[in-house]
Amino acid sequence: MNLAKQYNFLIINGPNLGYIGVRQPEIYGDKTINQVPDLVERLLGKKSAELQLHFYQSNREGSLIDRIERARIEGVDGIVLNAGAYTHTSLALADCLAWVEIPTVEVHLSNIMARDENMRRIDLIGQHVIGIIAGFGIMSYALGVQALYEYLEGLGS
Ligand code: DQA
Repeated sequence: MNLAKQYNFLIINGPNLGYIGVRQPEIYGDKTINQVPDLVERLLGKKSAELQLHFYQSNREGSLIDRIERARIEGVDGIVLNAGAYTHTSLALADCLAWVEIPTVEVHLSNIMARDENMRRIDLIGQHVIGIIAGFGIMSYALGVQALYEYLEGLGS
């Protein structure tokens, strides 16, 4: 009998994040989303066996909301969310995160605070997440998974 606990984490990518590694690599890096599990293993070592990572990407605002609502029904333990440009514009996504009560880490490939466009410093979803990781390329996702894991384990307490 296997009594080891398992966390189910959902990694969600929003619009224009279906081609990470191909899209503007000078801004977003040249690594792909497929490299996340290896990076998680590098960060978490044996503990990574306690995690199941599921991936979802959509270019549509409503589909992202549908997926997060479904995650609540499924009992997903945590979400790593890169909402892309919806980070800066979507009150609907912010409203969704405000009620579903799924611990969520917001991630970005680029450092949105250091980008040229002022608009990218506006973050509508940030109020409803447990924390934000930005600027580490694809490693932002692995750090997001690690942060979620540590959060659920009590942050070392
Ligand atoms: C992004 C930053 C957003 O401003 C942008 O719209 C994206 C990607 C990032 O991962 O750096 O699509 O979320």
